[in-house]
Amino acid sequence: MNIDYNETIPNNVDLGDDRRLLRALERWQPAYIDWWKQMGPVESDDLRVYLRTAVSVDTDGWAHFDYVNMPDYRWGIFLNPPEKDRTIGFGAHKGEPVWTEVPGEYRTELRRLIVTQGDTEPASVEQQRELGRTAPSLYDLRNLYQVNVEEGRHLWAMVYLLHAYFGRDGREEADEMLERHAGDPDRPRILQAFNEETSDWLSFFMFTYFQDRDGKFQLAALAESGFDPLARTCRFMLTEEAHHMFVGESGVMRVLQRTCELMNEHDTDDVRDHGGINLETIQKWMNFHYSICLDLFGSERSTNAANYFSMGLKGRYHESKLDDDHKLDGEQVEIPKVTGDGPGTHIDKETIAALTAMNLNLRQDYTKDSQRGVNRFNKMIAAHGIDFELKLPDEKFNRAIGIFQGIEATPEGEVISAEEWAQRRGEWLPTDEDHAFVRSLMKPVTEPGRMASWIAPPKRGIHGQPIDFEYVLFH
Ligand SMILES: [Fe+2]
Ligand SMILES: [Fe+2]
Repeated sequence: MNIDYNETIPNNVDLGDDRRLLRALERWQPAYIDWWKQMGPVESDDLRVYLRTAVSVDTDGWAHFDYVNMPDYRWGIFLNPPEKDRTIGFGAHKGEPVWTEVPGEYRTELRRLIVTQGDTEPASVEQQRELGRTAPSLYDLRNLYQVNVEEGRHLWAMVYLLHAYFGRDGREEADEMLERHAGDPDRPRILQAFNEETSDWLSFFMFTYFQDRDGKFQLAALAESGFDPLARTCRFMLTEEAHHMFVGESGVMRVLQRTCELMNEHDTDDVRDHGGINLETIQKWMNFHYSICLDLFGSERSTNAANYFSMGLKGRYHESKLDDDHKLDGEQVEIPKVTGDGPGTHIDKETIAALTAMNLNLRQDYTKDSQRGVNRFNKMIAAHGIDFELKLPDEKFNRAIGIFQGIEATPEGEVISAEEWAQRRGEWLPTDEDHAFVRSLMKPVTEPGRMASWIAPPKRGIHGQPIDFEYVLFH
């Protein structure tokens, strides 16, 4: 079969001129399509979906909207244009020209960063693959598929870097991206939150709110990289990530709106009999997703993270806007410390080198960003005259990585015993019954413009289309 890859893969990297890269992608692309068909969205091969496709990186022309048969989606390779005379913005090489080739001495670290980021992209597609069966509207089904094809493109973005800038081991890593699978007991995805199930649409909206926001912060840190191709790739990916978080935030908002309407209409806190999701249940979903996403940032104290920064590979959020020397040698920060055990457990503080607290630094920015949307959720609840506030749980709650992994705490942050945790965790995290109830609401709605019982319609449609537009064609 003859495929003109320079044509089938829209790109702004002069793919047609690079024989070696073309050969690598020619080998990888069929494996990717196989993966998409086997591990991507179920029963979606025959659908025609109103999708946007990245066709260039120009600010006003990059997104093209049309019906697409998903396996024929044109997954492209786009890097933001190079910034003239860009210099490394942080770490030991601050002020030196950025690298346009992999710096040999940092090759292993750079590859690890790219692989860890790349692995999350197909993972999320796998986690969300069943959701197409139960979409609450055609609008939502379309958004799910939009997120899925863009996560697929994000994998392409990372695989491009591996193929173009790393030799054989890069190609091997690219192959392995398609061999690990979310939740696979033998070959799981690298990060645990990307092995969890996303079996209902409330989880999908929480996922795109919290987990894609982790993506935003990781990409923003990598967008500062001294390795210019990585920085430019991530800058373009961030434009797509913003849409994923919009899907999450507006999704949660619409669920809340519907719940509040049902509460007022029926004068009750318990809207389950009326086909809605109780606020307490939504809080439990939030507790779960936020806490597992904090784990994605890694240990608060990390030598790897310090190295990535000092080497100039991974910066801080909005590095150039920070008012310090961007090197942090000798700087110190305070972090929490768990002391004692059993009933004597308490939380102290200790001072460590700021460089080793990079993960915590990024995570704290993530928390602030997460809180902003939660404030908007609470405003919406208050606007309905309802006295209830959603809260992000404390950093100690339900943690499996870092300082707090060995202890248990309530969402308010009170340290409790393992016994109490076992007894009370169902008050804070989704129980089997909660899952069963939410799943019972997940009935597909495919009539244009109609919404499932548990969610309000969106404010507006996609790309100027009406809400009752036929966003997905089943024929
Ligand atoms: Fe992504
Ligand atoms: Fe995303």
